[in-house]
Amino acid sequence: MDGVELHYPEGTLPLPVREATVGASGLEISRLLRDAGYVTLDPGYANTASCSSSITFIDGDAGVLRHRGYLIGDLASHASFLDVAHLLIHEALPTASQGEEFARSIATRQSLDKRFDTFFASFPRDAHPMAILAASVNALSAFSGEGGASVDVDEITLSLLAKIPTFAARSMRHSLDQPFIEPDPERGYVENFLRMCFGTADGKYQPDPDVVKVLDMLFVLHADHEQNCSTSTVRLVGSSQADLFASVAAGVNALSGPLHGGANEAVINMLEHIARERLSVQDFIRGIKENHSGVRLMGFGHRVYKNYDPRAMLVKEAAREMLTHAGKSDPLLSLAIELEEAAVADEYFTDRKLYPNVDFYTGLIYRAMGFPSRMFTPLFTVGRTAGWIAQWREMAADSETRIGRPRQIYVGAGERAYDGAS
Ligand code: CMC
Repeated sequence: MDGVELHYPEGTLPLPVREATVGASGLEISRLLRDAGYVTLDPGYANTASCSSSITFIDGDAGVLRHRGYLIGDLASHASFLDVAHLLIHEALPTASQGEEFARSIATRQSLDKRFDTFFASFPRDAHPMAILAASVNALSAFSGEGGASVDVDEITLSLLAKIPTFAARSMRHSLDQPFIEPDPERGYVENFLRMCFGTADGKYQPDPDVVKVLDMLFVLHADHEQNCSTSTVRLVGSSQADLFASVAAGVNALSGPLHGGANEAVINMLEHIARERLSVQDFIRGIKENHSGVRLMGFGHRVYKNYDPRAMLVKEAAREMLTHAGKSDPLLSLAIELEEAAVADEYFTDRKLYPNVDFYTGLIYRAMGFPSRMFTPLFTVGRTAGWIAQWREMAADSETRIGRPRQIYVGAGERAYDGAS
C-alpha cells in the first residue's frame, strides 16, 4: 500500500504507510501538525507505534509471541536464558563457542565492588527489593568510570546482565538480615543466582537441577515483550542519550508498578487476601464486576493479548509440575485455578477479552521455590534486563531515533492578565 489520505475540515493530507513485515503496518503522521495543524491523541499509546523494531513480534488476537522469528514455546523448551539474551541482543542464537564465551564473560563480572557492602547496609531491612534494585543499577553507573558515560556499550551490556542477579539476590538477603553469598564464576547463571539467594555460609547448599531448569525457563518467558511500559521507558530515557545504566534503572522503576511487573506480587497478595478473609471465588469476582473501575483481578488482562497469553499457558503447566516435584500442595494454586475458571466463564471477562497473563501463575512457582513475595518482581527484572538492553541498543543504532517528546492537547486557561493573589 502506498498510503492513505486523511480528510479533515480544511483539506486532505496523504499519509505514507510504513509496511510491517508481519502484523499491522503504520501510518506516518509526523507531518500532521505542520501541514494540517493537528496532533493525535492516544492515551496510553494504545494505538501508537513509537519505533520500528525487529526484536519481538506479538499477535495479540492469536496469542502468538516470537523473538527474532522464533516462537516463545520453542525457545522455552530448547534454549537457555543466556541463549535468548544473546538472540535478543546480538540478533542470533549463539554458536556453542559464542555461548560459552558469552556465559563466561557474564560469570566473571558478577561480583561487586567492596564499597557496595556499605551501600546495601544503608537500606532499611523493610525496604522493597525493587527500590534497592533500581538504586543499585544507578549506583553501578557511578562505579563505572565517569558515571558510565565513557564505558563501552558491550561492557555495560555484560555488566548489567551479570550484576542485576547479584543485586536482586543481595536485596533479598538484606531484607532477611542474612549475610551475602559471593557469586561463583564456575557455576551456571541460574545456579549461581539461586546460590546467592539461598546459599549457606558452609557452602553446602546445592540448587535442585529441576528448580534451575524451571527458573531458567521463567527468565526466558520474561526476556522481552516489545514496547511495554518499562521497555518504552528505557527507550524514552535512552532517546535523550542517557546511557544504558540510567535507562535500565528507569526501566526497573517502571516495571515495579502493580499494573506491570509488580502484578506477580499483587496476585499472591490477592490470593492470600481471598484465603484469609474466606471469601468465595464467586463473591470476589462479583465484587470486581461491581466495582470494576477500582479493584481488578490481578494477573488478568493485557493491552495486547486478547486471547490467552502464550506465556501464561507455559507458566500454569510449570506451576503444576513445580508443586508436584516439591511434593507440596499449595491451596493458593487450587484457588488460582478456581478463579481462572470462574473468570473465563464470566461474560464480564469474556466480553472484554480478559485472560490470565504471565503474572497470574508465576508467583506460585516462586513461592514453591522459597522466594518471599517481594522478590517476585526482582525475578521478573532479571529476565527483562535482556530485552531492555536489546531494545536500547536497537534504539541507539536507529538513524530515525529522535528524542522522545510527545505533544499534548492543552485544556487549561487562555492568557490571563496578572492581577496578583486576591
Ligand atoms: N480485572 C477486571 N477488569 C479489568 C481487568 C482486570 N484485571 N483488566 C482490564 N479490565 C477491564 C477494565 O476495567 C475495562 O473495563 P471497561 O471497558 O468496562 O471500562 C476493560 O477491561 C479494558 O481495560 P483497560 O484498563 O482499558 O485495559 P488496558 O489495556 O489499559 O490495561 C492491564 C491492561 C494489563 C493494565 C489491565 O488488564 C490490568 O490492570 N490488569 C491487572 C494487572 C496485571 O495483571 N498486570 C500485568 C500485565 S501482563 C505483564 C506485564 O505487563 O508486566
